Amino acid sequence: MSENAIIVNQVIKRFGKAKQNNWVKNLINRKAKSNGHNGSKPAEEEINGPVMALDTVSFEIKQGEIFGVLGPNGSGKSTLIRLMSTLLLPDDGQILVMGLDPVHQPIEVQRMINRVSVEASFFKKLSPMENLIYGARLYGMGGKEIRQRVVKILTRLGLEKRNIFNPMEEMSRGMQQKVAIARALLSRPKILLLDEPTTGLDPVSKREVQAVVNELKEHEGTTILLTTHDMMEAEILCDRVAILHKGKLIALDTPEALKELAPRLNGHKPSLEDVFIHLTGDKLKEEEKEDIESAQAMVHAITNTEETVEEELQPALEQ
Ligand SMILES: Nc1ncnc2c1ncn2[C@@H]1O[C@H](COP(=O)(O)OP(=O)(O)O)[C@@H](O)[C@H]1O
Ligand SMILES: [Mg+2]
Repeated sequence: MSENAIIVNQVIKRFGKAKQNNWVKNLINRKAKSNGHNGSKPAEEEINGPVMALDTVSFEIKQGEIFGVLGPNGSGKSTLIRLMSTLLLPDDGQILVMGLDPVHQPIEVQRMINRVSVEASFFKKLSPMENLIYGARLYGMGGKEIRQRVVKILTRLGLEKRNIFNPMEEMSRGMQQKVAIARALLSRPKILLLDEPTTGLDPVSKREVQAVVNELKEHEGTTILLTTHDMMEAEILCDRVAILHKGKLIALDTPEALKELAPRLNGHKPSLEDVFIHLTGDKLKEEEKEDIESAQAMVHAITNTEETVEEELQPALEQ
């Protein structure tokens, strides 16, 4: 068995077609054709271009490390986790989870991993104990032993005994998120995929969940992939951090090494936030320019095409 828990190799994931107006598309294609171009190809890709959720992404996660994927909304973090957990198929490239391929060995991969998504769902009227026993049954686990294990996991994650038997709806979101992590641990996953486990939590709950993540690393040796848009969180929790920007991996290193990538400001060491802005700043300017140009081209194409349509319609109207 390799010492890598996860290998991501040149992975590409596109999503369908961007929302578009067929009427506009047809007009632009007609205009392109009437100008002597093969209208369908370039115009189609330019206007309908599918969303590149992940664009040729490669990295490796070592066993036992907390690996952070840092990126703003829409940068591809959840897509990455869904590919690893067999919920999506890549368009190209390959992922290996403990040496197993999620595309060809989904059941085996599912045994290795568990995932906690940003909005974990529960039966809110039921207690953590009841929710976890329900979860355990889905994994084919049951019996007396499981009740003891639930109590053990929940108390270790900092839940007080009395909360274990109270309805979930009476608990803070931070506590609920801890129960979600506990539920994911029931199946004894080798790899825990945490998709924005602290997004939307108040500062105290956030710290509680972060402490749980640290505790898992210290005492269980669980490999953890954690996504976040919180730079501070990535910095304090993660051994290494990959920065995703619009589906592309733009940096990967330890938080300390990443901070060397941005210049010092007034003698102060840059934060991960400075690094992120430094790395994406130039890209943003380039993209803004491209966006404006393509919008201008579109407006130009539409206005010109409307004239053509009017010209074409005119004889029909005159009849
Ligand atoms: N099921 C889907 N269908 C279409 N587009 C999607 C789907 N899931 C994600 N996307 C798009 O892919 C990109 C990456 O999304 P996601 O992985 O959810 O980002 P993040 O988790 O970093 O916020 C976004 O542009 C998003 O709109
Ligand atoms: Mg997401």
